[in-house]
Amino acid sequence: MDIAATADIAVIGGSGLYSLLPDATEIRVDTPYGPPSDAVTVATVGDRRVAFLPRHGKDHRFPPHRIPYRANLWALRALGVRQILAPCAVGGLLPELGPGSFVVPDQLIDRTSGRVQTFYDSGAVHVNFADPYCPTGRRTILAAADGNGIAATDGGTMVVVEGPRFSTRAESRAYTAMGGTIINMTGHPEAVLARELALCYSAVALVTDLDAGVEGDHGVTMEEVFRVFGENTDRLRGVLLDAVKALPGERSCGCGDALAGIDVPELPTS
Ligand code: ADE
Repeated sequence: MDIAATADIAVIGGSGLYSLLPDATEIRVDTPYGPPSDAVTVATVGDRRVAFLPRHGKDHRFPPHRIPYRANLWALRALGVRQILAPCAVGGLLPELGPGSFVVPDQLIDRTSGRVQTFYDSGAVHVNFADPYCPTGRRTILAAADGNGIAATDGGTMVVVEGPRFSTRAESRAYTAMGGTIINMTGHPEAVLARELALCYSAVALVTDLDAGVEGDHGVTMEEVFRVFGENTDRLRGVLLDAVKALPGERSCGCGDALAGIDVPELPTS
């Protein structure tokens, strides 16, 4: 494969983060699941080849429930990617996680419905998902945040809702009561599809609002989410680019063994 069209790390950008890499090569990838959200851009950062894919498309044409999650993960893997950093905008489910906070979650609760969340439609492929995020990726992001003067919260449970609407106050309070600390609409099935491809996957959450059950005023608005994300994009870029440079090239985390011992059926190639 042409080296210019390969990468070993990917960043999947969320709402408000539609580009990351200067002097990047644009690559159009097709997959058995259709095209990904947009062209993938690839560049060298430090000594690593890095891919960037805007989760919603560059013009934000895909709402959370219509994102081609399988195509996105497949396309990145096809380029050689083995480690993924996944920034996202989230609401805070605890009063202390206010707008501008960074959280590196260690758990998620899937409250989506009707999204395809597997590559395997035959056979017995049941991946271990007890710890959905790569421990090496999490540690690397936390260190990069620290290096950028950001006291990111180490750990937290991301509740992923179907959307596209925001939650009612009662729903929001229920999510806090069930152990959620942050909430968003895109963290799943992205995380499990990465696991099914034996990729390392770590989320970095930027809190843009307090969710409806925590704030007692007007509820969550899109204006607020995009404004706060925009105000913090430079901080997020700094963390991501430093994390990419610091990620170890050799994987010793176990994510690469996600399919060990499983009789994996052949996946489609086109
Ligand atoms: N993304 C950003 N803020 C959110 C919220 N409060 N609920 C769901 N998704 C979000």
